[in-house]
Amino acid sequence: MSPKLSACWVVLGPLLCSCALALQGGMLFPRESPSRELKALDGLWSFRADFSENRLQGFEQQWYRQPLRESGPTLDMPVPSSFNDITQEARLRNFIGWVWYEREAILPQRWTQDSEMRVVLRINSAHYYAVVWVNGIHVVEHEGGHLPFEADISKLVQSGPLTTCRVTIAINNTLTPHTLPPGSIIFKADTSMYPKGYFVQDINFDFFNYAGLHRSVVLYTTPTTYIDDITVTTNVEQDIGEGSWREVLCG
Ligand SMILES: *[C@@H]1O[C@H](CO)[C@@H](O)[C@H](O)[C@H]1NC(C)=O
Repeated sequence: MSPKLSACWVVLGPLLCSCALALQGGMLFPRESPSRELKALDGLWSFRADFSENRLQGFEQQWYRQPLRESGPTLDMPVPSSFNDITQEARLRNFIGWVWYEREAILPQRWTQDSEMRVVLRINSAHYYAVVWVNGIHVVEHEGGHLPFEADISKLVQSGPLTTCRVTIAINNTLTPHTLPPGSIIFKADTSMYPKGYFVQDINFDFFNYAGLHRSVVLYTTPTTYIDDITVTTNVEQDIGEGSWREVLCG
């Protein structure tokens, strides 16, 4: 091992871990490698916006328990994309509240049978608040449309004879004074002009609040012992002699 490589190993060594807390860790961008497999779930997902008055019908009727098409009509929705501009319906473009996405994935057999394999569901961006179920079981919630989040679903997919997994994601694009960007909901009380319970999203920024699964959703594997995060700390050596910079920079 060259001195450079062994220095690198000193940094990386302690980061090799097999702890269960890893999902609060680094979440390195998934790349295929001899020890990691990747399965993109991009493409057409089943989709339904919850137009019920309180926007809570999906939770009341537990739409995540069975395939989405069984609880009502669905649209084909491309992922990644914002749902707003996909159809010609103004009420979907301007929708505020919960929308539901669902996609079934076939899992390679070794993913479900090899308990030395860690299976992770990664959602690279869901704008704005997301609740995620796998095969009807709640696995993770996340707030904020700009950062990825993950759930370790190994136990779930390795616990039975299942060879598919059904991923359901409910996303709420309601903005509040505490979201990024901020916004607020204004109810229109005048029932002579608006239907009962009618509300609009009041915003004070100069772009449209596009929402949905804005980046890829992927499944990937790691061994149960894996690198969770890498920190590179750089500094400048002050005491370097004249003429040596070239050597440092060019190796
Ligand atoms: C979801 O949407 C509804 C309707 O806009 C809103 O009342 C509710 O607070 C939202 N919930 C979350 C968690 O964003």
